[in-house]
Amino acid sequence: MGITLRCIDCGKEFEPSRIYECSNCGGIFDVVPDLDFIREKISKRLFDSRLGSREFPYRSGVWRFRELIHPLVKDKEIVSRPEGDTNLYSHKKVIQYTGIENIFMKHEGENPTGSFKDRGMTAGISEAKRLGMNLVACASTGNTSASMAAYASMAGMRSIVFIPEGEIAFGKLSQAMAYGAQVFQVSGNFDDAMSLVQKSSRELGIYLLNSINPWRVEGQKSIMFELIQQLNWSSPDWVVVPAGNLGNTSAFGKAFDELEKLELIEEIPRIASIQATGADPFYRTWKEKKEELEPVKDPETIATAIKIGNPVSWKKALRTIKLTNGIVEEVTDQEIMDAKAVIDSSGIGCEPASAASVAGAKKLVESGMIDKKERVVCIITGNILKDPDATINYHLGKLKGISPRFPNNPVVIEASLDAVRNVI
Ligand code: F0G
Repeated sequence: MGITLRCIDCGKEFEPSRIYECSNCGGIFDVVPDLDFIREKISKRLFDSRLGSREFPYRSGVWRFRELIHPLVKDKEIVSRPEGDTNLYSHKKVIQYTGIENIFMKHEGENPTGSFKDRGMTAGISEAKRLGMNLVACASTGNTSASMAAYASMAGMRSIVFIPEGEIAFGKLSQAMAYGAQVFQVSGNFDDAMSLVQKSSRELGIYLLNSINPWRVEGQKSIMFELIQQLNWSSPDWVVVPAGNLGNTSAFGKAFDELEKLELIEEIPRIASIQATGADPFYRTWKEKKEELEPVKDPETIATAIKIGNPVSWKKALRTIKLTNGIVEEVTDQEIMDAKAVIDSSGIGCEPASAASVAGAKKLVESGMIDKKERVVCIITGNILKDPDATINYHLGKLKGISPRFPNNPVVIEASLDAVRNVI
């Protein structure tokens, strides 16, 4: 069965191997599956029969869709925790806040290391194993490094992470250190860390596991496969997703393109990709109808996960927006933290960047882009425990330029029976 890597710029095709940039023009790759071959092998029934399976690797919400993720990899090469199988939530507070009756949140913070990254990482590390790699690396705003460190250790590989100094949430840094990665602090931002890791892997032969690696994108497609299966093989009207380095936005469009070609869905949902106002190069590109991305030099946002000025996957992401008749929007830090407080107080909880989806959905309803009656799925990308500082400082009113509009109950310093009586 043919499966190739195809350059998204010049179209040149390569055999899958340890490459992530086209030797002809420097473009990045798509994994191109043989859909005609796959069509014969798969069905909704097959995927449904694997639900609840205890058999390796089908317990995973990624490998349940194995034929659509990585048909070449063998069982013994698959490194799985397992991941996926994340829940869809609905809550009246979020319905009230956004004004959307049919709003759901798919909680990717329920993955093994607390973010959606595990879905791309299980595919990326399994490919690393297939290729016989033993040293992997990534640049990260935190979650990719936590995930890569865990999966590399499980697979018995060494890992190196490059992080922007002082700019990643402690929950994530502690995971990367604890799982055993070699951590390099880069004096600069994520984009500087990204350049350094690309140079290091080019010159030192280290296997790169950022989403520039097309197998990461293949794994992340499973968020949409699983969502569509959860909705009984029907499509929502909208999928709203936080956007930083644009791996997810890219993966979702590819997933829907393949699902439609395989006749597993009839309608492609519209994708709304949401950036933070201070880190919004993709929003500007789309808004101004440019065909080239102009990087934001000093990105700034409380949502450190998406504090990215020069996203590597912007061309693929633009393709997604065009394919799905989607849109790009931006939200302020105040809007992000307010939406997070609403998600948190509904008992669901998330890290700041994740709340950009719900904040974006609210804004798009207010502008009339999303109709209140439409079915909307917001992707919650990371767990509430990833960035406790942001949460505590919001509720204590200590975040610069952000006021706590949805404060939880203040902490009572002096505990006593009378103090308890006063609050009930
Ligand atoms: N939400 C969270 C919690 C993230 O960690 C990220 C990206 C995003 C959203 C944005 O997703 O890059 O696919 O557009 N985090 C990367 C990292 C950059 O290094 O952990 P994207």
